[in-house]
Amino acid sequence: MEIQWYPGHMTKARRAMQEDIKLVDLIIEILDARVPRSSRNPDIAELGKNKFRLIVLNKADLADPAVTAAWETYFQAQGAFVAALDARTRGQMPALLKTVREACREKIERDRRRGILGRPVRAMVAGIPNVGKSTLINSLAGKSVAKTGNKPGVTRGDQWIRLNREVELLDTPGILWPKFGDPQVGRHLAAIGSVRDEILDREELAAEVLRLLREHYPEDLAARFPDLPEQGPEALMQIAESRKAVKKGGEPDTEKAAAILLEEFRSGKLGRISLERPEEG
Ligand code: G4P
Repeated sequence: MEIQWYPGHMTKARRAMQEDIKLVDLIIEILDARVPRSSRNPDIAELGKNKFRLIVLNKADLADPAVTAAWETYFQAQGAFVAALDARTRGQMPALLKTVREACREKIERDRRRGILGRPVRAMVAGIPNVGKSTLINSLAGKSVAKTGNKPGVTRGDQWIRLNREVELLDTPGILWPKFGDPQVGRHLAAIGSVRDEILDREELAAEVLRLLREHYPEDLAARFPDLPEQGPEALMQIAESRKAVKKGGEPDTEKAAAILLEEFRSGKLGRISLERPEEG
């Protein structure tokens, strides 16, 4: 997926978010569990102030469970409500809805004290492109729920999905933008496949993934690519040879080797891997 953020695009996304935020009590902020730091929008604290917040560490099925648990503790220590999940799995949604209620308990109790009964919590899903916003909305909405206000002429902001008696979800996700200016953020988002590889040098990117794998997951790496040389370029040569990736003249196709490595990392074939850890920040 390609992400092109230019000032006009960002201004528009920010405005849309600001309008949508006015309608909700809770923002469900989705991060990618493999890169929680790089997939976090730097302006969300400001945009979401005065709202209840819940952080979802999504794609947890692809991330290292121990590191995801460390991130949960890290965000909880900052006072956030956190849920780690695979947004494609409907079975995980009841637990998420329970956390939604916990995150909004203050509002639910305030309403009760004021004698307001049956007013549902209103929530929206927000995150940078490709983190799984639409997938989560679909899983939460399921098939059986009724869409309310889904009639011609009703404005975008009025599309609500009633998830149960207590929670309504805005059916349009809030699109946020990644952090700019930090090259590591760009590399990590490219590594997980959230920005188009062509923007960056794919072999350089693969070398960085190899470095991280060697540092934190040497056994997973060795299981798939045994006895790789230390240096990135040489390692890619060897991957090319072992995977029969050769150019016309017979020399190893390191570009193809980089693509193979990145694909195997992204799809989880190399194992459950996290590229960022809380203690490294
Ligand atoms: P977005 O709205 O935030 O842009 O993201 P979207 O839901 O479109 O999800 C982007 C991709 O991530 C999709 O894959 C989706 O299936 C996948 N995805 C979402 N949540 C999870 C998760 O928890 N775990 C895993 N492993 N994948 C997840 P895609 O390749 O674009 O499409 P497809 O393969 O599903 O057809």
